[in-house]
Amino acid sequence: MSNTPTYEEAIKGFDWAQVEEELGYRKGDPINIGWYCTDRICEMGLGDKPALIWEGFKGDQRTYTFDEMRILTDTFAAWLRDLGVEPGERVCLFMDRLPELYFGVLAVLKMGCIAQPLFSAFGEDSLWTRLDNAGTSVVITQRKHVKKVRKIVDRLPGLKHVIVVDADGKPLKEREVALALHDLPPAEDFVVHPTTAESPSILHYTSGTTGQPKGAQHVHYSLISQYITAKWVLDLRPDDVYWCNADPGWVTGTSYGIIGPWANGITQAVLDSGFNADKWYDFIARNRITVWYSAPTAIRLLMKEGAELVAKHDLSALRHLCSVGEPLNAEAVIWSEEAFGKPFHDTFWQTETGCMVITNFPGMQVKPGSMGRPFPGITAAVLDPVEFTPVEKQGQVGVIALRPDWPSLIRTYWNNEEGFKGKFKNGWFVCGDQATIDADGYFWFVGRDDDVINTGGHLVGPFEIESALLGHPAVAESAAVAKPDPVNMEVVKAFVSLKPGFEPSADLDLEIMNFIRKKLSPLAMPQEIEFVEDLPKTRSGKIIRRVLRAKEFGEPVGDISTIMND
Ligand code: WT7
Repeated sequence: MSNTPTYEEAIKGFDWAQVEEELGYRKGDPINIGWYCTDRICEMGLGDKPALIWEGFKGDQRTYTFDEMRILTDTFAAWLRDLGVEPGERVCLFMDRLPELYFGVLAVLKMGCIAQPLFSAFGEDSLWTRLDNAGTSVVITQRKHVKKVRKIVDRLPGLKHVIVVDADGKPLKEREVALALHDLPPAEDFVVHPTTAESPSILHYTSGTTGQPKGAQHVHYSLISQYITAKWVLDLRPDDVYWCNADPGWVTGTSYGIIGPWANGITQAVLDSGFNADKWYDFIARNRITVWYSAPTAIRLLMKEGAELVAKHDLSALRHLCSVGEPLNAEAVIWSEEAFGKPFHDTFWQTETGCMVITNFPGMQVKPGSMGRPFPGITAAVLDPVEFTPVEKQGQVGVIALRPDWPSLIRTYWNNEEGFKGKFKNGWFVCGDQATIDADGYFWFVGRDDDVINTGGHLVGPFEIESALLGHPAVAESAAVAKPDPVNMEVVKAFVSLKPGFEPSADLDLEIMNFIRKKLSPLAMPQEIEFVEDLPKTRSGKIIRRVLRAKEFGEPVGDISTIMND
């Protein structure tokens, strides 16, 4: 039986206060996401239910019940407290999808600290920028990634502890400390920190057009939105085995890979390994996964492997499919109907929104290619990009905007209130995307409204890449832009002008690509480098990426005679 009302029922008289009541939360009470995901579920009598079914890339498996997860997160939190970590400090989780990552996030929240999950593929520059900006005092990592932390530790005076969860007796360096979570005696007396609605919870770094990535600051009250959107849009039911294939370094992996499902007492499966179609189907089949939250790039990769591969596995338990992160093209929806017998339901949201805001409710007619309709309690509109008032004509392209009145909108960007204020226009929170709305109120994605590159569902900021490129001895100037890609939607392309004495060559091309892969991440690595004499600039010397983008997308450049430098 579904827990989800129809869209029409849900939207009628919807009030976030009803969700608060369902969660037993009253205004002013303490609210702690870590407690809601573990202790509360045990208090509801579900302590023996599996919370996490974990599988490593080598095929090793472990299952933890909600009660085991409660005790392990308490033990982890008590250990951090005994180390001297104080509520409010930023604790970064920099590791693969090990159980310690999931328990670490909850433990950090239970302690009243701010969890800062960072993608383990980040290189030293991406890592440093984010740790420096957040003034992070603790990094929790694993042997495989600690080397990258060691390279920058001298430039992070505020970093007090580097915790290695799999040290296994291996020698550690200064400031490093080993934690063997599974060997610790269980903490019996840990008291969850009484965070309240506005207490900071998670800090996710996200990219914009200008400047380095910004720390999107969430609060514990976000739970209200994450809980109900997970329950309704993912259509979660008590016997589900749910799989979110996103990494908690990105918001999907925390909002819907930790908080939403566990606050609903749902069993989650986690696979700590990258994309492999056969392995993924096998994982779904063996664990009898019922609900799957994925992304268009993954779906397009699965499409390439063909529906025959799907048919080789018993995926009969799969009941509901959702997608997020990039435009879900109509072909992918149609293919999933053919291959899985059900469509992927697109959902639109952002790091900043904390929860899904435009969704295809289960049971709602899916219009392939559309993102669906606003979640109940969310007021969404398409605005004129100059006036910031709703567009007049139906179907007219404008910018997606939301009334800033739902629980999980971020409260600020870390140390960057100006940047946060800049997201608001005329009383609306402006997302940075363009869309249209059809006669039935369905939203259709048109494109981003800025220079951010969306590669495989991950946003990459041009500024971060251009800054890193300047660190290469041959690079004089550069511009990073999106290049359309059939699988990843977009990939990074860099236009580079060289310093005197350097000549373009295939070797230099490769060298620069690898330089960025190591310093930033494989996502940020340009897939193509075009050497140019100079770059299009405004009269004041700002590089106009729009001109280069237009070239890549085959779009008309538009009138640039008034801004160009020649
Ligand atoms: C940006 C937000 C929130 C989950 C992961 C991404 C793009 C997101 C869709 C969709 C078209 C989408 C937008 C958005 N995006 N979902 N269903 N259709 N585009 O979080 O890293 O903050 O990225 O991803 O451009 O603004 P994020």
